[in-house]
Formats: sequence, C-alpha cells, structure tokens
Amino acid sequence: MPLYSDGVLDEVRNSVNLVSLISEYVALKKRGRNYVARCPFHTEKTPSFNVSEEKQIFRCFGCGVGGDIFKFVMQVEQLSFPEAVRFIAERHGIVLPQPAARPESESGSDTETLRRVMEEAGLFFHQTLLEQEEGRSPLEYLQGRGVTRQSIDRFSLGYAPAGGGDLLAKFQRKGFSVSILEECGLIKRSEDGTRHYDAFRGRIMFPIADIRGRVIAFGGRALGDRQPKYLNSPETRLYNKSRNLYGLTYARSGIQKLDYAVLVEGYMDFLIPFQHGIENVVASLGTSLTQQQVKLLGRYTREVVVSYDPDSAGLAATQRSLDLFLEEDFRVRVFRLPEGQDPDAFVRSAGANEYMERLGRSTPYLDFVLDSAMQRQGKLGDPKSKIQVMNAVLPYLAKIPNAVERSDYVFRFARRLQVEDQQLLAEVKRAAQQKKTRLPEAPLATVGVMKFAEKRLLQLLLGDPVLQQHILSACSVQDFAGLAAERIFAALLECFERGESGTFEGLHRRFAGQEEQVMLAQLQMEDVPEDLSRETAESFLSALRSIRLASRRQEILSRIAEAAERNDDEMLNKLIEARVQVDRELVSLSRK
Ligand code: UTP
Ligand code: MN
Repeated sequence: MPLYSDGVLDEVRNSVNLVSLISEYVALKKRGRNYVARCPFHTEKTPSFNVSEEKQIFRCFGCGVGGDIFKFVMQVEQLSFPEAVRFIAERHGIVLPQPAARPESESGSDTETLRRVMEEAGLFFHQTLLEQEEGRSPLEYLQGRGVTRQSIDRFSLGYAPAGGGDLLAKFQRKGFSVSILEECGLIKRSEDGTRHYDAFRGRIMFPIADIRGRVIAFGGRALGDRQPKYLNSPETRLYNKSRNLYGLTYARSGIQKLDYAVLVEGYMDFLIPFQHGIENVVASLGTSLTQQQVKLLGRYTREVVVSYDPDSAGLAATQRSLDLFLEEDFRVRVFRLPEGQDPDAFVRSAGANEYMERLGRSTPYLDFVLDSAMQRQGKLGDPKSKIQVMNAVLPYLAKIPNAVERSDYVFRFARRLQVEDQQLLAEVKRAAQQKKTRLPEAPLATVGVMKFAEKRLLQLLLGDPVLQQHILSACSVQDFAGLAAERIFAALLECFERGESGTFEGLHRRFAGQEEQVMLAQLQMEDVPEDLSRETAESFLSALRSIRLASRRQEILSRIAEAAERNDDEMLNKLIEARVQVDRELVSLSRK
C-alpha cells in the first residue's frame, strides 16, 4: 500500500515548479521552450540536461536519467521516495497527512529507522566521552591534540566503549533489532556467526554528517598505535563514501562566503584548522577523490586549494585530483606543506594566520604539475627527461582557454626547461589539435565591464601614493566585492596594509598572465583628465559603494520573493533584516 495517496502527491507536485527547484542546484539556461544545464548527475562539457517547464519533467540526453520532481530530489539529495516527498513538502509549507501505512521496522530497514539509529549512536558515543569514567583518557587525548571542548560539542565527537558489547546491549533495550544495527555497520557478527559485538571498540568517534547535518557514518580513531588507525563505517543505504565530504555541512557557508574551499585529507586536518577559524575547509578522508565529491563541492564554489599531505601518496593524490577539478571547471591551486607536516600539525605549530597567508600564496596547479614533473626527472641534462617533463605539462597547457595566460605559461616554462619558446608553443598547439579541441579564445577585453567610477578611481590611485593613503585607510575588500577589478583593489589594499604603495609595475608582476593584467594595461593607456581632486576620488568610491549596495539590495529582493514563494518564514525574516540593514547603509552613504 502506497504511503501517500495520488491526491497528496499531486498536491505536492503542483505546488512546486520544477524549474525553480532545479535551479537551486544547477544554473539553468532558457533554450527554446526548455531549459538546459550541464547535468548534475554525470560529467559533461556541453549541456545535455533538459527541463521542460510545461511538462514539469527533466531528462538528460547524456546519461539518460529523467523523471519528475520527486525523481529529481531523490537523485540529487539521495533520498527514498517518501523522504523526497517530505523533503519537498517541508520546504514549500505543504502539510502532509499522516502516512497511510508505515512499513514496520520488523523488516528492520526503512530509511527513517536507519537515520534514528545513527543519530542515537552519535549521542551514545558523545555521552560516553563526556560522562563516563571510560571517557576520561580519550578526553585527555583530544585535549592533548589541541581539540577544545567547544569543538567536541560542535562536531559531536565521541568515544566507543572498549568492552565490545555496550552499544549492542543498550540499543537492543531501546528496541532496535540486531539486523538494523548490523545494517548500520554498528555491530558485527563473529566469524562462526553465533555472536554479535560492537564494530567500534575503544575508539574516538568522528560522526560523518551529510550536507544537511544528519549522521550517516562514523570514523573511529584508535587511541594508541593500534591498527587500523582509523576504522570507518561501511557503505550503507545512508552512506556512500564517494558522495560525501567530511565537514561540508559545517563549511558550506564559509566556502560560499570566501568563494573557495580548502581540501584536506584527514579528520583532524579538517577539525583543527576549522577550530582556528578557517571555516572553508573540507576533507576527502584518505580515499581517492571522486567526481561526485568534486561535483558536490562545485555546488558551493568553483575554486579550490588542495592541501594534502606532502608525502608521496599525498602528492600523487593531489595530481589525480587536478583532472577531476579541471573537468568541473574549477580554478585549482596547490598548497605544498613543509615536509612531514599535515594541515593539523601545521596550524598548531605555525598558527592559523600563517596557514591562511600561505593558502593565499599557494601555487597555481600548472606550476605544481611542472614542479613535480621536474622533480621526478631530477636532472634535466638530457633531452629525454626534458621530453618527459614536457609531456607531463602539455595536456594541461593545451587546456588553458585564455591565450594571454597560455602564452605567459609557455614562455615561463620554456625558460625553466631551457627550450625554445617557439618549440614549446608548437608542441602545445599540436597537443591541442591532437585532442581535436579547438582552443576557444576567452574574451580578453574585460575592461569594458569595469564601471566608470571603478576605472577612474584606479587610475587616480595608481599614480598617487598620498591619495592611496587617504582613500585606502577607509576601505576594506568588501567595498569592492563583485566589481570587475575586485582583485586589483584587493591587491592594492594588501600593499597598503604592508605599508607599501601599489604601482602599475608591481601589479603587472603580481597579475602576470591574468585577466587583470589586460585591465591594467588598458587603464594605463587611457588619458585621464588632470584636474581630478581628492574629492573626486572620494565620490568615485562612494559611487562604487552605492552600486554594490544597490546590487546587493536587488539580490536580497529577489531572494525575498523566492522565500515568500516557498513560505520560508525563517529565511524571510533574515532577508528582510538584511534589506533593512542595506537600506540604512544606503541612507548613510547618501548623507556623506
Ligand atoms: P593519515 O594517516 O594522514 O592520518 O590519514 P591523519 O588524518 O593525519 O590522522 P592523525 O592526525 O594521525 O589522527 C589521512 C586520512 O586517511 C583516512 C582517514 O580519513 C584519515 O584522516 N585513514 C587513514 C583511514 O581511513 N584509515 C586509516 O587506517 C588511516
Ligand atoms: Mn595528522
């Protein structure tokens, strides 16, 4: 007997537009009567994912998935059918009747019960750590590793008792069956099949949560040198390890805010940096990174710094991750930690500021590829090893869409490899043709999209250290967020904070080969009226501020409309508050 009647399902279906729901996950473009996007369920360069607003269905001509709104939510959120119905209903303020029939947990395995078990197991471990005598030494261990009490609560760390039967006994008393506990991976059967015992014994427990913060698995760390160092839950109906990133539920807003993520390997490499305020970090948990994980991260940002361990395994994993990220159009940089360190150790010894600072200076992936290829070859004396290195970097060079950037790399690399520029350039072209990828030329003249005030302000500032002093002391990067020349302003501010003044020459070096360099060149070439004063510069600055506020206001208004449509009161209140704040700022700006 179905859980929900057709009438109920129709009501849910009719109150939500598939197009707006899907656009929460992927960027849809209107094409003819339909909308298209790059498919969220498989990797592709050209969009073959189609949504029909008229018919309220989606279909991907690449991988073949398709269906209605329920199917989409099941697929993208990894939910069962009834869960998908509830998921949609909850978010759109639709009250569902009590389910007609509830599959009894005698079969032991409806998803809801699995979730309950995992959640309660998390609580059980947490309480054992904090309240039981047995928890004392693991608590000391965590303290010794610099984990604060606050982090223990925030990330719900716990301890699995060493005895081997506590969880089983306790959960059986609560009425959970052996089979469901086994399905959750919390207990195991002895070899001869006669007994069951707790799967995690005497370990510090790290709950692994899904993006919505629900516990779906655990990682357990041994206290001493016992092997394995970490024991992880098996894959279950709730947990697919290639589709999850540890910490994402905590880091997602930090990632969105900073618009880049830091990818680390281990549990502690997430936890310690996060505890120190680096809130855009996620961990891939030692397994090799998968396309699904990259796609998952791609919902929140398209820029990543890979910060794996500097050992050979870590370097190889870094190299492998590049292709996955590039496939999804990420901007990728690599942070090479000093020998023998990992992010956890580095943050504790050198401090979070130093880590942040170095993240900011981390290497573009191409330089990483070249460096590691050169290191592998050792000496570059003979032509053979040069060819090896060239072959390693060519495919990446050939993929750079922007011509300026590409030739900048070619010249730089040619010098390091001690080959002729032209020779390397020819190789790059050949590599590109071999793959039959015509190199698309990215638009270069971004200057066109710079606002007038933005251009003039930069032109004024760059010629005048005194004016820089005056203007920049009252600015923060926020003032320039979203502008075309945002990164140029940020660089200027950085100089200013170091007590230096930014010059065209300095910025050219800083942005070698990037779009910003083209902007700088054009700014320099334009004639600037001579009679501009300090007041003019100030008025440009406040013009930029109000442009930014106005566009923020616009964005808030459209999110208000969305939230109202979803009946999301909580969000609505937040947004209205944000709008009031923006209005206040606009008013105070106009008073100046
Ligand atoms: P590492 O061996 O680098 O450990 O494994 P770590 O993260 O630095 O751990 P600490 O600092 O000694 O506590 C990196 C990651 O690989 C996975 C874990 O996710 C770990 O965080 N791993 C490692 C396992 O799953 N099992 C293992 O036995 C070891
Ligand atoms: Mn470590």
